[in-house]
Amino acid sequence: MTAHLVIKGGTPLRGTVGVLGAKNAVLKEMVACLLAPGRHRLGNVPGILDVELMCQVLTHTGCNVKQEGHDLFVVVPEELNPEAPIDLVRQMRASIVVLGPLLARCGQARVALPGGDDLGARPIDMHTGGLERMGADFELVHGELVGRVEGRLRGTEIELPFPSVGATENMLFAGVLAEGETVIVNAAREPEIVDLISQLQGMGAQIEGAGTSIVTVKGVDALSPNDHVVIPDRLEAGTYAVAGAITAGDVTVTGCRPEDLRMELRKLEDTGAEIERGDGWLRIVGPERPKAVDLATLPFPGFHTDMHPQMVAYLSIAEGTSVVTENLYDARFRYVGELARMGADIVTEAQHAVIRGVESLSGCPVLAPDIRAGAALAIAGLRAEGITEVGEVSHIDRGYEGFAERLNALGASVERHD
Ligand code: EPU
Repeated sequence: MTAHLVIKGGTPLRGTVGVLGAKNAVLKEMVACLLAPGRHRLGNVPGILDVELMCQVLTHTGCNVKQEGHDLFVVVPEELNPEAPIDLVRQMRASIVVLGPLLARCGQARVALPGGDDLGARPIDMHTGGLERMGADFELVHGELVGRVEGRLRGTEIELPFPSVGATENMLFAGVLAEGETVIVNAAREPEIVDLISQLQGMGAQIEGAGTSIVTVKGVDALSPNDHVVIPDRLEAGTYAVAGAITAGDVTVTGCRPEDLRMELRKLEDTGAEIERGDGWLRIVGPERPKAVDLATLPFPGFHTDMHPQMVAYLSIAEGTSVVTENLYDARFRYVGELARMGADIVTEAQHAVIRGVESLSGCPVLAPDIRAGAALAIAGLRAEGITEVGEVSHIDRGYEGFAERLNALGASVERHD
């Protein structure tokens, strides 16, 4: 049996839990280092599997990477090896964002095409389309995307049909060293993008409009390495908040930014949870049983798709019927069958889930299909009667440092078996 968590449910969580830097910021900030030779330092870096995988991607390009506690040092050489092989890209599709930096620095890139994953097809047409408009040419050779550009990438206006996080990042990476001005229209506005822009600005990039839908980048000739501290992980914070709520507990999350979780906290309040928030912390007191709420996932500042499975687990014990609509991914509901094994009453149809709240869940063995669904099943286990075994726990390791330890510090009973 693969690594799994054994969770004894039924204890209200109480106490304080601290969160680390955002996975979805740090992975891109590690890649941003490729844009400038020299020694970079990133602070508040979580000890998670995806960071380890990104270290391997950077090492493959010729960087020297060292993690010391929550600091990460990346030494970038003058000459890069411009490729990301399939074994790494398969394990972590976020590797695709190396395309922009490699084209900008080396004039070429060989990056394995990631293909779909547990969340659905996840095409990268906006990444390649935008880079083509900036002068790159792509060819698909035996499953590898081979990109080339004659001379420098050239700034232009790029309208993204959807505010894709990854495509916005690749356009930023391409634009900072391009000739002239790049205007990204319908850019993603996620806090992780704002943080990435602040890192790039620290390296000398000229970017305006961070956090808005129109981001303007004036290309410069070269960037220099710098120090950057990663913003707190709103998904980690949100996950522990829901863990507190589902157990009718009283949990304070520190090291977080409640302002990055406005919609998610609002929906939790609508279920009857009491929330206090301050600078860098939030406290949640869960109701005995939540009230049903409806929600739809949307790009920031809408309800985050990566908080949807945790919320569905919570709503499965609500009084009343909730409707959750998933607007970003076409295969995100795969975990619902596992929740149903625990007694949840959920029907899915296209992008909607209808959740008829039940009074209690009962523990059983379940399998984590992806990071957030894994966290959601564990959260359900905290409320369930008896023992829940969450298998394929490596998915949870991709995005949460010390998940079991943090929950146990709040009074949960979670044993990890490797
Ligand atoms: N899309 C396209 N074409 C493209 C790019 C995206 O059709 O060229 C579609 C995707 O298929 C998806 C939607 O646009 O339906 C949004 O995708 P987006 O590009 O915004 O997502 P991403 O950059 O691939 C990041 C996070 C995800 C998070 C999404 C949305 C990282 C490493 N990943 O992915 O995080 O769900 O943004 O906020 O930053 C997670 O942490 O568990 C996770 C999956």
